[in-house]
Amino acid sequence: EQAGKGEYDHFMLKEIYEQPTSLAQAVEGRIDDGIDLEEFPPGAFEGIDRVQFVACGTSYHAAMYGALSLTQAGVDARALLANEYGASSPPVDDRTLVVAVTQSGETADTLSALRRAVRKGARTVTVTNVVGSTAAREADDSLLIRAGPEIGVAATKTFSSQAVALTLLAGRIVEDALAGDGLSDLDSLLAAADRLPGDIERLLTESDAAEIARRYRDSRSYFFLGRGQGYPVALEGALKFKEITYEHAEGFASGELKHGPLALVTEETPVFTVFTGIEDDRTLANAEEAATRGAPVIAICPADHPAADVADAHLEIPETDPRLAGLLANVQLQLLSYHAAELLDRPIDKPRNLAKSVTVE
Ligand code: AGP
Repeated sequence: EQAGKGEYDHFMLKEIYEQPTSLAQAVEGRIDDGIDLEEFPPGAFEGIDRVQFVACGTSYHAAMYGALSLTQAGVDARALLANEYGASSPPVDDRTLVVAVTQSGETADTLSALRRAVRKGARTVTVTNVVGSTAAREADDSLLIRAGPEIGVAATKTFSSQAVALTLLAGRIVEDALAGDGLSDLDSLLAAADRLPGDIERLLTESDAAEIARRYRDSRSYFFLGRGQGYPVALEGALKFKEITYEHAEGFASGELKHGPLALVTEETPVFTVFTGIEDDRTLANAEEAATRGAPVIAICPADHPAADVADAHLEIPETDPRLAGLLANVQLQLLSYHAAELLDRPIDKPRNLAKSVTVE
């Protein structure tokens, strides 16, 4: 097992550091003048007027991330927890596209939602890391995220590859659903996707996450805030943190803080705030609400961002398209969780009570 980890102490750290490669693989051959998905040529999604993503855990956060590219472009889309799909019983017909997002392709809750969608006559797609997995076989089509094997129970590189693959898939769906009109500022998005591996490489060598983890190691609870694509990243940051540190962590849409969670905020609750470039002034105002109650605010944003000046600490991300900035922030949060768990001497690759693939409902 040690051999497989190479120079790293844990698979999780190795997999975090593999992201420049896994993301280059995720986009390879899929970007030229536009979005070019071999599996889904132009017209592949003609007739689709509603998109539902179903997934669990980290994959659900990636699904939320992908759904935003569709709603922001004016397409009816939502991400649903696969284990709530039956109970919420959303409308499904033959003009509905149901996208199952599952890195393993074997998660029982997600398979059950996928089967329900098939029974209701939806068109189905699986976005997965595993060729020939059950979800890939049972859906009409599949899109591989090409992340390579992920051993750590905590999903890291598969999240970023899912989010990128889903953003590209969303771009193709938008072109068909809106009859030719694609995503806005497509050139900016594609240039950012092309730069992403290099941006992450740089971030990994310069990250202060280990120092920040040390500074806030004695906190009572850890909060994560974000808006737009920053919101699923905040949820993912909190999930990763609780999963491997066993400390209490919660993610919120930044505007929700004042609707309840603010009652929990004290000088012992650091607030990690993700800035993606979408309504950042509002997010900053929300972070300041926490700062006023004494909470340390840690801004995850580019160096010259206004939040970097007012926050107590700063985790830097390169400037990029707002639709991909969240993925850079997520890498900083992955490192933060990793280093916090290491300080606590947790079994990082195999957290208690958890399995890599959950094959029971
Ligand atoms: C997160 O770190 C977990 N490994 C977990 O939430 C996972 O994302 C979830 O169980 C779904 O797995 P899947 O992508 O294989 O369907």
